[in-house]
Order: sequence, then structure tokens, then C-alpha cells
Amino acid sequence: MSDPVASSRAIAVPFLELHAQFSTVRDDVLTAINRVVESQHFILGPEVEALERDIAQLTQSQFAIGVSSGTDALLVALMGLDIAPGDEVITTPFSFFATAGCIARLGAKPVFVDIDPQTFNLDPAGLEANITPRTQAIIPVHLYGQTADMDPIVTIAKRHELAVLEDAAQAIGAMYHGRPAGSLGNVAALSFFPTKNLGAFGDGGMVLTSDEALAKRMVMLRNHGFQPKYHSQVLGGNFRLDALQAAVLRAKLPHLQTWTEARRDHAAFYRQAFSETGLRSSDPTGPTEPGQIVLPIESRDCRHVYHQFVIRVAAERRDPLRKHLAEQQIGTEVYYPLPLHVQGCFANLGHRIGDFPHSERAAAETVALPIYAELLPEQQQRVVSAIAEYIRR
Ligand SMILES: Cc1ncc(COP(=O)(O)O)c(C=O)c1O
Repeated sequence: MSDPVASSRAIAVPFLELHAQFSTVRDDVLTAINRVVESQHFILGPEVEALERDIAQLTQSQFAIGVSSGTDALLVALMGLDIAPGDEVITTPFSFFATAGCIARLGAKPVFVDIDPQTFNLDPAGLEANITPRTQAIIPVHLYGQTADMDPIVTIAKRHELAVLEDAAQAIGAMYHGRPAGSLGNVAALSFFPTKNLGAFGDGGMVLTSDEALAKRMVMLRNHGFQPKYHSQVLGGNFRLDALQAAVLRAKLPHLQTWTEARRDHAAFYRQAFSETGLRSSDPTGPTEPGQIVLPIESRDCRHVYHQFVIRVAAERRDPLRKHLAEQQIGTEVYYPLPLHVQGCFANLGHRIGDFPHSERAAAETVALPIYAELLPEQQQRVVSAIAEYIRR
């Protein structure tokens, strides 16, 4: 006889399940951790250097510099570009806070350009009107694991002699016209936050560039500007990556391709299953109807790595839908519920609701579904059926 408690546990769909991944790499990761513990070399050193070589190769970047987080990767990159008070840096209002926070922490002004509602990424069409003599750089974000439309962004940046910093925190392994995320601008930031497609056992990040002078500067910036040790050439900080994190990441890296393929397969499964419900909207840019589900667009120019699989539903149904799913032990998330231009700490920028309508609508309508590699087809089917059941009401 089936045990109702056990069966309800079997069909729960947590939004994330890090244990499932750990169980597939446990031996290699523990061996790697043990290697560092036995070496008693905890900061930078050979583990970090080996990871830097591997990530440089993966991202076709000449230089990869391990740092303490994705946030610090953005900060070190902006410091490397010499962003200073009075400068302006253009970015998207629909991202994780750090993207704009790092600009403001250096005393510069984040200037927002709205997203393309189909891809959720910065819309290059809005760039040129926002370039001023103070503009120094552009930060496109490869949100959810799909690259921004980089060709027009880089063309505009070159025309105005601006640097391009890719926020590739969510996009390791993503491609744009066959070239890897992280190699598409002047410099890029990766995050190894534990929930990322390649996650550490704590905070970690990396800056990427093929500009040798910038790389040398960022190596100094990560460690108090030292060159040589205890001689500070530039005003840096402690943005160093731990050897333990590097060792964990090196143990996981050989699996990244397989995990990414699994995420892409899960995305294809969702697309097929949602199409079969008959609720899929045929016009992803039109108003989101209460009885419809809008699936994410996969641009033909990109290889999406599905850090997140994000659907849209009518704004008034989004939070009740999440509650309905939570009651059935199906986890969801919202990335991100409040766009950056209306964050309290940016009140000084003078923005209000209505300034960036596509970002505001995305913040109100989007919901991220479970998409990790270890997800089972029956779990995905449950997610789709539960959403369809609610949307049909
Ligand atoms: C788009 C984006 N930028 C920056 C970051 C910051 O990375 P971290 O959490 O490693 O500091 C993240 C991760 O949370 C992110 O998703």
C-alpha cells in the first residue's frame, strides 16, 4: 500500500536542490578539499591559478583572475577601467542589484536603458540616446543565461570609445554567434555563487579580459594594489579568491557541459509540455492575458544556458500562482521583483515607476521555475500541470 506521506515527498519540486548535484560529485569534491587542507595554502596560489587557466580556456579569454565574488568581479572590473566620481555607466534596470550597485559604489552614476521585452536583456536601441560626454562604459547583463545582443552594443561602444563590461554572472558557457560569454566585450564578470550553473561552496567570482594592461591592473587591484608585495601601486582591496573555493570549482568544472545540456533539455521539455496545455501565448510581446503563459524566447544568435527558465503570467495572477504552487510543494522564485531604478538607495537618481516600462512589467509578470540538471521529467510535468490547472481557472 502506498504511503501518502512518502508519495507527497517524492513528488515535491524544490526550486533548487544542491544536494542532488553534490551527490554526483561528492568524492571528487571532497578529495579536492582535502588536497587544499593538506597543503594549508588557503588564499590564491596554485589551485586558483589552475582554475584561472581552465576558465580562461573555456571563455576564450587571455586572462582570468579569480576574485572573491561576482559582485567583486564587477567592482574590480570597473576599478580596472578607472571608473570614478562624475562618470556615467549605462546598464539595465532589470538585473541583480550588484550590477548597478558597483557603479554607484565608485561614485559614478548608473544610467539605465530599458530591456528588450522578449529577451529581458538591455535593448541596444536605447543606448545612443543615453550616451553623454561623461559616459565611460556599458554593462550589458546576460540575464538568465542568455547573452545580450552584443554586436550592436559593441559597435556603439566602439563608435563612442566606451568600454564594455559583460555581467556574465549568470551565463558561464553561454555563446553568442559561436563565441563564449565573457569574451564579447573588453572585460567580463563571472559569479560562482553556490546556486550558479558552476557554483562554489561559498562566494567566488572571476574577471575575464584579453587586454593585458587591464589584466595586470586587475591582478593588483584584487590584492591591495600590491606590485610587488606590500608596495601598493593602485588603490585596491582584498578581493582574493580562496584556494578551497577554487579546488571545489575545479572538481565541478568537468561536469559543467553535461549540466548545461541537462538544463537545455529541461527547457525543451517545458516548452513542449506547456505547448501541449494550449495555454501558451502566441504573441510574447503583447499584453499578457490572464489565461495565457508566455514562454521565454531563445534568440537564434545565442546558446542559452538556462541559469533560469522564466515564464510570464498576467501580473495580477503571478503571486497567487506562486502561492498555489507552494501549497503543492513546488518552488518558484522571482528574479527580480523590484527594478533597480526604483530601489530605495537610488532615490537620488530621481526615477519613478513608469520610466522603464518593459523592466517594470517584467518585474511584475515573471516567475522562475525549477531548472537544475537533476530535475526529473515527472517533477517537470507536475510543475506544468499545476501551472496549467491554475491558469485555466
Ligand atoms: C546578474 C548578476 N550580477 C552580479 C551578481 C553578483 O554575484 P555574487 O552573488 O557572486 O556577488 C549576480 C549573482 O547573484 C548576478 O546574478
